[in-house]
Amino acid sequence: MALPQSGLSKNAVLSQLDALRADDKDWRSGRVFGLVFHAGDDVEEVAREASTLFLSENGLNPLAFPSIGRMQQDVVDIAADLFHGGDEAAGFMTSGGTESILLAVEAARNRGRAERDVAAPNMVIANSAHAAFHKASEYFGVAVRKIPVRADWRVDVDATAAAVDDDTVLVVGSAPQYPQGVIDPIPELASLAAERGINCHVDACMGGFVLPFAQRLGRPVPPWDFRVDGVTSISADIHKLGYAPKGASVLIHRNQELRSHQIFVFDDWLGGFYASSGIAGSKPAGPIASAWAVLHYLGEEGYLRLTDVTLAATERLIDGVRAIPGLTVLGEPESQCVAISAVDPDALDVFKVMDALAERGWHLDRQQPPDSLHLTVSAGTAPAIDAFVADLRACVEKVGATRTSDRSTDYATLE
Ligand SMILES: Cc1ncc(COP(=O)(O)O)c(C=O)c1O
Repeated sequence: MALPQSGLSKNAVLSQLDALRADDKDWRSGRVFGLVFHAGDDVEEVAREASTLFLSENGLNPLAFPSIGRMQQDVVDIAADLFHGGDEAAGFMTSGGTESILLAVEAARNRGRAERDVAAPNMVIANSAHAAFHKASEYFGVAVRKIPVRADWRVDVDATAAAVDDDTVLVVGSAPQYPQGVIDPIPELASLAAERGINCHVDACMGGFVLPFAQRLGRPVPPWDFRVDGVTSISADIHKLGYAPKGASVLIHRNQELRSHQIFVFDDWLGGFYASSGIAGSKPAGPIASAWAVLHYLGEEGYLRLTDVTLAATERLIDGVRAIPGLTVLGEPESQCVAISAVDPDALDVFKVMDALAERGWHLDRQQPPDSLHLTVSAGTAPAIDAFVADLRACVEKVGATRTSDRSTDYATLE
C-alpha cells in the first residue's frame, strides 16, 4: 500500500479501520484467555477518556508536562505500597512487562559492573522464566544460565545455587511464572542473591495486581514481594490484571540506589542533557494517564472484587478440567494462569482439542514442552468459564484419539 494521494474523510478512515477488525478475536465475548484483560465497559470508558485527554503529550520531558511526572510517580507509589516497598522503594513506569524485565536485567548488569567490575555477566533463571529475559540477554549481553523446574514446576533452588558464580549479576524468580501459574520459591532465591550482594528480580508481571489482593481476601499467598529480604526489584503489569490498556507496567526497585543503575544519562552530543528511564525516548502519555485513571477508578475495593471473581473462576476452571476424563492441570496454579494437558499425551492430543475449541470461538495459547493449552483467567473471562468447561468436555469427546500434525505454538508471532 502507498500513502493515499488525497486524505480521506474522517468517516472513511474510521470505517476502514472498523472493517479491518473483521477477523480479530472477539475478546468482548469473554472467550479470549489472554492478550486483553477487560474489567467492564465502565472501566474501559474511564481508560479511554483518560488516554484521550493525554493523547498528544510526551512523557519524555516531565518538566514540560509536570502532570505526566506526577501521574507516573503516583502509579509507582501505589505499586510500591502494594508490594510493601516502604518509603525507600523507587521505580518508573514502562511500556509493558518486557520493558520492565529488560530494564531489570540492564540495572543488574550495570550494578555488577559498577560494584564488582563484572565484565562477562550472567543471570540465573528458570526455564519457565518469561522469554523477555532471553531478549534482555541478547540486548544487554548478559548470558543466561537456564535452570530446570522441579516436578511442581517451581525452579530448582539447589541447581540455581550451583549455577551462581562470581560473574552472576541477577537471580530471577516469578510470581507466578506464566506457563503453569506457580510461584517460584522467592525467599530461597532472594537469600542466595543477598548472600552475594547481587540483584534478585521478581517477575510479577502476571501476579503484581492479583497477589496483594488475594492475600487481603484471605487466600494463601507465599512470600514474594519486598517483605522478602534480598528481593531487589519487582516488575508488575498494570496492563494485565491491573486492567489498564496496553502500554503500562512498573519496575520497582527496593531503593533509589538500585534504581540508579537503570537510568541512562548523557550530555556529550550537540543536543544537550538527556536523561531517560527506559528503552523509548519519546514516551506516550496516554497509557500513563489511563493506568493512573483505572487505578483510581477501581480503588482497593474494585481490585478486591475483580480478584475474587478471577480466582473463583480459576478454581472452577481447574476443578472442571480435572473432572474431564483424559485431561489434567499442570501443577497447582497459585494465581490466574492455568495449563491444561493430557493425562496420557499418546491417547489425547490437546493441540487437536485446541483446534476444536477454536472452531467454537475460544482463543487460548498452545504451549510446549509439554504440549499444553494455556489460559490466563481474568475478570473479563470469568463469566465464560462454565461454558468453556462444557465446550472443553465436548471437544475432548469429539476429538477422541485423532491428532493434528501441526505442532506449532503461538504465544507471539511476527506477522
Ligand atoms: C510472567 C510474565 N512476565 C512478563 C510478561 C511480558 O509482558 P508483556 O507482554 O507486557 O511484555 C508476561 C506476559 O504474559 C508474563 O506472563
